[in-house]
Amino acid sequence: MNILVVGGGGREHAIIKGLKKSKKADVIYAAPGNGGIAHDAICVDIAATDIEKMVEFAVNNNIDFAVVAPDDPLVLGMVDALEDKGIACFGPKKNAAVIEGSKAFSKELMKKYNIPTAEYEIFDNAEKALEYIETAAIPTVIKADGLALGKGVIIAETRQQAKDAIVSIMMDKQFGKSGDKIVIEEFLTGPEVSVLSFTDGKTIVPMISSMDHKRALDNDKGLNTGGMGTVAPNPYYTEAVAEECMNKIFLPTVNAMNSEGRSFKGCLYFGLMITENGPKVIEYNCRFGDPETQVVLPLLQSDLLEIMLAVSEERLESTEVKFSDKNACCVIMASEGYPLSYEKGYEITIDKDVLDDIYIAGAKLSDGKLLTNGGRVLGITAVADSLPEAIELSYKKVNKVHFDNAFYRKDIGKRALKAMEE
Ligand code: AMP
Ligand code: GLY
Repeated sequence: MNILVVGGGGREHAIIKGLKKSKKADVIYAAPGNGGIAHDAICVDIAATDIEKMVEFAVNNNIDFAVVAPDDPLVLGMVDALEDKGIACFGPKKNAAVIEGSKAFSKELMKKYNIPTAEYEIFDNAEKALEYIETAAIPTVIKADGLALGKGVIIAETRQQAKDAIVSIMMDKQFGKSGDKIVIEEFLTGPEVSVLSFTDGKTIVPMISSMDHKRALDNDKGLNTGGMGTVAPNPYYTEAVAEECMNKIFLPTVNAMNSEGRSFKGCLYFGLMITENGPKVIEYNCRFGDPETQVVLPLLQSDLLEIMLAVSEERLESTEVKFSDKNACCVIMASEGYPLSYEKGYEITIDKDVLDDIYIAGAKLSDGKLLTNGGRVLGITAVADSLPEAIELSYKKVNKVHFDNAFYRKDIGKRALKAMEE
């Protein structure tokens, strides 16, 4: 089969490495891919959001199957456009991707179908939002309705911070039209769990759970980032929690989307918080997580392409989805200064024996050399029998990768280890 993977980050690199293992995979293209992905796929210089060019490329190159990985092309309707030309896809259509594309939509969905989530109010008028804040419980959480590169959530510790957030999102349009509406939400506490799932709209199969580390610095200090590392499975996701999530969250969400005429097919990502009152949904994503994918897919024992085809053809129920009972840890190496400003263009060297475990996110090829070209540069994953071993091994592998101005968190997995001792 000729396969096209849309996107160009570490997540896409992990998906491509997974697809490559399938006997059915012949040629794999990545659009746009990156200098590291070029090791495993043919990179095509088309922006992930350029629907017209992507469809043209897919048609002209006899693509049999397309995996649309990032949120923005999904929300823009790339799957609809490819399917219109007869190209089978993994990923939700536009009317289902709205589960991530609009936080107001997802909150209303959860309220209507009794899916546990934080209490909230929606505002499309800044003055009304500012008035509401005068008496709201603090801390509170302000969320831009639309996509905002993962930066649209502000935890306000004071009333003034909440007001500043409203002004910057709704009036100064920090995230453009994504801030035309906001959600103001109850502040919840508890450990967070990411659960990615395969669903074809009929059956839902959760993948192994994982834990992201979103802050830039050790001990969850510093700014929010796209994610600085992950471990899987997540020790907070016990069997009892998993069962509760399946009954109260996963199945009800799939059914709710069907009832709304928005059947979801693809990877549905549940960002959960395990509160004192049980698991609650913090966010839905309409795609694989990054860097969750870099620990989840290395633990998948079944054929990824077969599963994706089964999702697309709505026969997931009769398809094997098996994970190993090992543990995985991924450490992200970033450029010093990320998520704010950072320098690019430093040569990356990687010892050959760890190449298979590296997922390149921000790098480009120049005269045969791999150069840093982004904030998050790459992720290194180790799989081992136990979590402590996986963590230790991933940091050993970090020492086999070099570039100037590199920085990474030294405590990925520490919270998970603590949870296991509790
Ligand atoms: P998101 O971009 O939706 O993943 O949100 C970013 C982070 O904000 C989440 O991973 C949580 O740590 C935090 N967060 C979002 N909503 C809430 C909430 N209602 N209460 C507490 N923390 C939250
Ligand atoms: N790692 C969080 C996300 O992919 O949204």
